Amino acid sequence: MNSEPKDSEKQAQNSKGIYCFMDVVAREAEEYARDHTSPMPSLLEEIERFSLTATPYPSMLTGRVEGRFLHLIVQLCGARRIVDIGTFTGYSALAMAEALSDDGQILTIERDPHFAKIAQGFFDRSPAGGKITLRRGEAMEILQSLPDAETDLVFMDADKIEYAAYYRESMRILRTGGLMLADNVLWYGRIFHAGDDDSRAVADFNDMVNGDRRAEKLFLTIRDGIYLIRKRAA
Ligand SMILES: C[S@@+](CC[C@H](N)C(=O)[O-])C[C@H]1O[C@@H](n2cnc3c(N)ncnc32)[C@H](O)[C@@H]1O
Repeated sequence: MNSEPKDSEKQAQNSKGIYCFMDVVAREAEEYARDHTSPMPSLLEEIERFSLTATPYPSMLTGRVEGRFLHLIVQLCGARRIVDIGTFTGYSALAMAEALSDDGQILTIERDPHFAKIAQGFFDRSPAGGKITLRRGEAMEILQSLPDAETDLVFMDADKIEYAAYYRESMRILRTGGLMLADNVLWYGRIFHAGDDDSRAVADFNDMVNGDRRAEKLFLTIRDGIYLIRKRAA
């Protein structure tokens, strides 16, 4: 079940037809950032339009600014083995796959068969789609089946209640110097007055990461907040 705040509670379409969901980062700044960020390739723009208009959860989409950020991170760190936790319509996986070298691989994980089918349809249409393997199932079970210290980059964007558990598994599968990106760490501003289970889980996760000496961390206020974490040498 999707536990995000209802989109009707927080979405608004601006004069350019762009949806804004986050009130934590000023809406004007969000729009300005989008307007001053390179557009994504046409298939990703199509996935964005599709996700915003044809799914009940448009706010789950990462979108252009975060997609371009993920793309650049993959290019800058030269990641070759990536795990994407929470596929939805495939946007983050494809944004990263487009930046991967030919021998790179992304494992993307989705438990909802409907979204998995949609995402696979988009991957099949992309020249970069061959670098993506979609596994259907529970994220934790799949993460637990992965080997130690062989992953370069993890993008975490599924069940917020499980963030602490994803973190522990991600630290295990990441190589030293590997990166983790955790999405929605501002959780629509609800972390400041965490009164429900998801908000408390995200707030506790942020505190846990902040206190972990194994991690170098940078809390970014991009979109709904991204925690950028680097696994230090033991
Ligand atoms: C916020 S969306 C991911 C958005 C995607 N990364 C993008 O760039 O558009 C979260 C996705 O994680 C999936 N999900 C939630 N809990 C999960 C779990 N325990 N195991 C696997 N997938 C899960 C949901 O079905 C949903 O499609």
